[in-house]
Amino acid sequence: MVATISHDRYFRDDYADDELTGDEMGVREFSDTSRCSSPTWSIYSYESSVDHQRMLREIHGRVFNNTSEYYMLPADAPEHCRLDMQHEMLKKKMNGLFLRPDAVHRALAPKQTEVPSILDVGAGSGCWALDVGKLFPHADVVGIDLAPANLKSPPPPNCRFECDDVNLGLDQYHDGFDVVNARCVSSGIADYRAFLEDVSQVLRPGGVFQSIEAEFQLYDEHFRPVTARSEDDPEFSWTQKMSLASLSAMEARGPGIRAGPQIPKWLKDMEGTWEETGEKVLWIPIGPWGEESLGERSKYVAELMRQDVIRFTSSVRPLLLTAGYFEETIDLWTERVHDELKNLRRRLYIRWICSWGIKRRKSGDVFY
Ligand SMILES: C[S@@+](CC[C@H](N)C(=O)[O-])C[C@H]1O[C@@H](n2cnc3c(N)ncnc32)[C@H](O)[C@@H]1O
Repeated sequence: MVATISHDRYFRDDYADDELTGDEMGVREFSDTSRCSSPTWSIYSYESSVDHQRMLREIHGRVFNNTSEYYMLPADAPEHCRLDMQHEMLKKKMNGLFLRPDAVHRALAPKQTEVPSILDVGAGSGCWALDVGKLFPHADVVGIDLAPANLKSPPPPNCRFECDDVNLGLDQYHDGFDVVNARCVSSGIADYRAFLEDVSQVLRPGGVFQSIEAEFQLYDEHFRPVTARSEDDPEFSWTQKMSLASLSAMEARGPGIRAGPQIPKWLKDMEGTWEETGEKVLWIPIGPWGEESLGERSKYVAELMRQDVIRFTSSVRPLLLTAGYFEETIDLWTERVHDELKNLRRRLYIRWICSWGIKRRKSGDVFY
């Protein structure tokens, strides 16, 4: 028997109206020491030496998952710290955790038959899953990833983390979830179209899928792609150069990284699966270069985007070394990118592509 819970307790988005604190205005500390390698309640323990060898490996001084050849960004504390910061940025930009909060709240309303459930694909540091778990304490949240979430303390009882590769299919989860989130995970997905089919099988009728992916192509202040390739061109950007090199290195491992802009169309093409699909683009400046016209919140978001990109240069270092770039080249690029961004020499945007689908309900399904 499911307890009766007042619905309006859940019909709100805790992040919608929050004010920025003084700390946040100065960009709060996202320090690596706030994360540690203590064991989590994931199905594998990060500290077990056997599992450590099996699941993680070291490449060029950073720690990576040991199971996927596609995904080659680190899975260590500095990377999880970067992801925490990126999460904070997106949360502020989106006013919350969801693209369609109304549909999510409806899908997660307490039910007579089953516990409302949420799946976070490629959960990374676990930041999104943990926030959602707090927001919906009556729901179960499962985060899956190639590598452990590396949490500092055990997750709340309604959240768990599992290590799995979604390229192996999601059969075990069929008809098991009301919300599926997949954020910044495309580079690790071998066939994103097939993944969307899997997601549609995982979702219950009325369930919501949301995807958020950043483009590696950067845009100028007029929202035009940065195309200059020569350092002598005033439009040239080192950040763009390093970003495109990273894109090529990822693409050489698998096509997933190019999926982002296609996802809205692929969702639309899945005729009969969704009762609604949609897309939205978020433009986030790299650094507060338009300061005069930015509000405090937007400045904070832009600053976090800048810190995120600066940290990303060290995340992609092992990938670029493995792809054959010389260490000196990467060092030079990194130095130039840091200089470009710290001094706001270029006015750049990152384009975030957001898409969603709401799974078709069976005729006669009623939502309370
Ligand atoms: C860039 S991180 C994003 C993490 C998180 N979604 C976020 O937005 O903060 C991508 C995560 O997806 C995971 N990942 C990539 N490919 C995967 C796959 N095939 N199966 C499971 N997890 C995967 C990676 O291990 C990494 O933790």
